[in-house]
Amino acid sequence: MAPSMHNAQPWRFIHRTGIRSVALYGDPDRTLPYGDVEHRALHLGCGAALLVPAAHAGWTATVGLLPDPGTPWHLADAALDEAEAEAEDADRDLADLHRAVRPRHTSRFPFSDEQIPEPIFDGLRSAALLEGCRLITPPSAWHADAVMELVHDAELLEAANEAERAEIATWTRTGRAGEGPAADGIPADALDPWQYGVSSPVRDFDPSRRMPDRAAAVFEEHPQIALLGTMQDTPADWLRAGQTMQRVLLQATLSGLATSLMSQPLEWPELRSSARDPNSAIGFVHMVFRLGYGPQGAATPRRPVTEVLSFE
Ligand SMILES: Cc1cc2nc3c(=O)[nH]c(=O)nc-3n(C[C@H](O)[C@H](O)[C@H](O)COP(=O)(O)O)c2cc1C
Repeated sequence: MAPSMHNAQPWRFIHRTGIRSVALYGDPDRTLPYGDVEHRALHLGCGAALLVPAAHAGWTATVGLLPDPGTPWHLADAALDEAEAEAEDADRDLADLHRAVRPRHTSRFPFSDEQIPEPIFDGLRSAALLEGCRLITPPSAWHADAVMELVHDAELLEAANEAERAEIATWTRTGRAGEGPAADGIPADALDPWQYGVSSPVRDFDPSRRMPDRAAAVFEEHPQIALLGTMQDTPADWLRAGQTMQRVLLQATLSGLATSLMSQPLEWPELRSSARDPNSAIGFVHMVFRLGYGPQGAATPRRPVTEVLSFE
């Protein structure tokens, strides 16, 4: 149920039953050669998929993040142990987040102007720290404006790049002939309305309006956003950022927020470095979240579990 860029679901799990261990692999057949050249987004999705289920099932998962250049697709091993009766608070919180796994969806609807209370922001920042990353939310006004400008720049770069547009079209399901399987990609009903004016960081997966029935809407003028980052930019940082992304999303869902993700400006190296606040301790930004009060998005499909889990 984890989020992944373009809903590519680029993960495979092997449960080694004898030694109570779950190995996580990235799936080389589900990469995005134009939108995710370095496989950073792939690691984020895989990190997100790794976070919660063991805690919910009463296991303590000791996770080793492994990426090593010799075996680049073997990303992590999780050793499972019976959870102590006196679970740490952080582990109990993690198990509790499981309630939000199914209701959480990316919402590309307009949100209201209602301000998120500071204690909720505070909880989200703490959730990020528990997973070893930093969350800047809310960013300062100039930083929020700068991020919106980068979104506009990314839209222009994307519009001018035929290969990138073709890749996005491959992963959207707009009802045209010859589309990929229904178990992955972004279905038409998750695209939600297109934006007049683009005041809010919501990606338009159908800029050429192949779907004539899609409504248009005015989005919030002052979107409430959050930026997730780490000090370094290694594959282990990307996995950690993915775990953090999922923890923040699930906690936001339990707090009654709708959420969406935006990586558009982070997909262009020339824009990504400008997304960080030079006054912050964040060296590299991994994700821009939009948070607020509004409709939850539509559910998106997932591949059958037999395709992503095997036993040894
Ligand atoms: C690394 C990453 C990048 C993403 N970038 C975007 C984005 O730029 N715009 C967007 O609308 N959604 C983005 N998403 C959200 C995915 O499209 C979404 O998670 C996927 O379609 C599955 O839907 P769900 O989140 O509702 O389960 C991103 C997700 C991940 C993990």
